[in-house]
Amino acid sequence: MGRSGGSTLTSKWIKTKVLMRSTAISPLIPETVRFSRENLKKMLQKYKMVYIKPERGTYGNGVMRAEVVTESGRTLYQYQRDTKKTKKSDIEAFYLSLKKHIGSRSYLIQKGIVLLKHQDRRFDLRVMVQLSPKGTWETTGMIGRVAQSGKIVTNYHNGGKPTSIEKLLSPHMNSARQAELIRRLKKLGEDIGRFYHKKNLGFKQLGVDVGLDRTLTPWIIEVNTNPDPYIFNQLKDKSMYRKVMAYRRALGKRKS
Ligand SMILES: Nc1ncnc2c1ncn2[C@@H]1O[C@H](COP(=O)(O)OP(=O)(O)OP(=O)(O)O)[C@@H](O)[C@H]1O
Ligand SMILES: [Mg+2]
Repeated sequence: MGRSGGSTLTSKWIKTKVLMRSTAISPLIPETVRFSRENLKKMLQKYKMVYIKPERGTYGNGVMRAEVVTESGRTLYQYQRDTKKTKKSDIEAFYLSLKKHIGSRSYLIQKGIVLLKHQDRRFDLRVMVQLSPKGTWETTGMIGRVAQSGKIVTNYHNGGKPTSIEKLLSPHMNSARQAELIRRLKKLGEDIGRFYHKKNLGFKQLGVDVGLDRTLTPWIIEVNTNPDPYIFNQLKDKSMYRKVMAYRRALGKRKS
C-alpha cells in the first residue's frame, strides 16, 4: 500500500508490459527489453543510445547511459554512470564492464531519448495524476526536473532541480505550442490512469516521467506508482502543491 492508499508496483518491467497493451499509449513508450548480452548488441545497433536501469530502481540510482560514439573514425562503445564515462572498443569487453556494475540484479535496456536541455542541462517532466474525489482520473500537477550539469538523471535525490514547466518550455516553443503540449500531457496522464484502472491494478496516484526530444514528442520514461507530492512544494506558486495535497488527503480517506 502507498502511504495514502492505493497499490504500488515497483517492477518497471511489469508496469511497462501492461501499458504496452494500450494501442493509444504504446507508441509513446521507448522500446524496453531485459538486459542481456544479445539485447545490448541489438538495442545499441538499433538506437545508438540506450539507458540501462534497474528493474526496481529509485531516485535514479544505478541508471547508466550507453552509446555508440565515433572518435577519429573509430567506432567506440561508451557508457556513463553518474558523471564517469568508460569507453571500450570491443562490444564483449563493453558488456563485461557494464555487467560488473549490474552483478546478478535484474536490469532493463530502454531506447534512449535525447532529452531537451535547459542551460545545457538535461530536463524531463513529471506529470502527477490522481483519482479525484469524484472517482475520475485527473492530472493535478506538472513540473520539470533539471539534471545537475553533466548528469544523466534528473531525480531530486540526485541533485535534480524542480523547475516550472513554462520556464523550461519557453526557449523551445511559442506559447500556442506550449499550451498544446500541456493539454496533450494532461490527457496522456489521464489516459494512463484510466488504462491502469481498467486493468484493476488498484493505483490511485501516478507520477509519469516524460522525456521530450527535439521533435517535442512526449516519451513515457517511467510511471511511478508512489509519486512524491512534495516536489510541487518547490515551486513559488503553491497552487499545484495545494491541489495535489488536497487530492491526496481525500484519497487517504477513501474506502477503496
Ligand atoms: N530512456 C531514457 N531516455 C532518456 N532519459 C532517461 C531514460 N530512462 C531514464 N532516463 C533518465 O533517468 C531518470 C531516472 O530513470 P527512471 O525514472 O526510469 O528510474 P528511477 O528514477 O530510478 O525510478 P523512480 O522514479 O521510481 O525513483 C529519468 O528521470 C530520466 O531523467
Ligand atoms: Mg523516475
